[in-house]
Amino acid sequence: MNKLRIKPIERAAASGLQRTLGRWDLVFLGIGAIIGAGVFVLTGVAAATQAGPALVLSFVVAGFACAFSAFAYAELAAAVGGSGSAYGYAYATLGEVFAWVIGWALILEYGMAMSAVAVGWSGYFQNALSAAGMALPESLLKTPFEGEGGLLNLPAASIIVVLGLLLASGARASANVNGAIVLIKLIAIGVFIAVGWGDVDPANWHPFLPFGWSGVMHGAALIFFAYIGFDAVSTAADEARDPDRDLPFGILGSLTLCTIIYIIVAAILTGIAPYATLNVPSPVASALLAHGHRIAAGLVAAGAIAGLTSVMLVMYFGQTRILFAMSRDRLLPAALSNIHARTGVPLFATVLVGVVAALVAGFVPIREIAELVNIGTLSAFAVVCVGVVALRRLRPDLERPFRTPYSPLIPILGFLSCVYLMLNLPLATWQRFIIWMVIGLNIYAVYGYRRSALAQI
Ligand code: ALA
Repeated sequence: MNKLRIKPIERAAASGLQRTLGRWDLVFLGIGAIIGAGVFVLTGVAAATQAGPALVLSFVVAGFACAFSAFAYAELAAAVGGSGSAYGYAYATLGEVFAWVIGWALILEYGMAMSAVAVGWSGYFQNALSAAGMALPESLLKTPFEGEGGLLNLPAASIIVVLGLLLASGARASANVNGAIVLIKLIAIGVFIAVGWGDVDPANWHPFLPFGWSGVMHGAALIFFAYIGFDAVSTAADEARDPDRDLPFGILGSLTLCTIIYIIVAAILTGIAPYATLNVPSPVASALLAHGHRIAAGLVAAGAIAGLTSVMLVMYFGQTRILFAMSRDRLLPAALSNIHARTGVPLFATVLVGVVAALVAGFVPIREIAELVNIGTLSAFAVVCVGVVALRRLRPDLERPFRTPYSPLIPILGFLSCVYLMLNLPLATWQRFIIWMVIGLNIYAVYGYRRSALAQI
């Protein structure tokens, strides 16, 4: 066995999961995971405190980093495959330790993003309940750590349980629900663009760079959160009908559509409201309201609730599939890869992720962790870019249904841009990330290192 424990690529290996998803399901899965708290919530903070009207440029910078990485994801998803996504690609190119580190970072991306978005969802949900005169008491909206009287964030925990029940009923049913929700959020964004367009006042774009170029870059590092999710398409590799062609289509298609949408939304948002007024929980809806568009603002708020729901759904789906892959390689306990005979889903993994994420969302004040999610995701993207270059050298013969153009230039640019965005994140984020990684390496040392499938060879 090789010392690095690099896992051989077995493209035809049967996973037991059911192949029910077509190419547009995958594009919708991507959009489902991408458009959410990033554009509906974080655009406001980023414009008001970091980038100003130059938020558009922050979106372009983060979009480039994602586009480079998306090419790398598309190549490896089609050539290596497997529901483990970046974890699986690292296993096939850089070996078991790297794979574990990336799998552990992906738990930050998927699991934590899901809990953080659930907390945002809870805020919007409470707004909707208040509008209908049925507001929940404060004690059921706050965690015990958020001041007097907080018990738990009940809506945040409950939405995760509901999504868990949906996912447990099968990938096909989840994809249908996701498709409907994605349509609602796309309509909401369409309404914002159509209505906001007429109210743009170019005076709001001056000064364009109130925080300078460093503001643009810090804004990009934060707003990167909005793009997270196109990579979740790759976690459906074992459930795609024609993964070789459809995964690259789903990854690149969903990212392209969302990048165009984001740049237009950022330009209109900073054009209809002075940037300094945007640091509110629902900036996109509030900006319309400030211009008297009550109905449009209501539609956008409903779309935001839908958007956040689908992000959680796809992140939840992705998290279970990554745990499934890690467990199949015996880096995690075997129960996590047991497939339920009737529904074809990894049931125990679905229940476990639901329980943990519901507890985190219900009891931990977690809004500020978007940056922690970003650093975990960026590290995974960087490794995927390295993986493309490594695999071209290690296995030049491997069949590659999709090839990253201009390799190694594009993967190298992808790696550098991800590392650059990581460096633009705050020190506290780095400290938390390092603690998380040290915990992960300890778990690997006492569990996975001895028990993994490759350790037994
Ligand atoms: N991109 C996802 C969002 O913005 C994580 O909510």
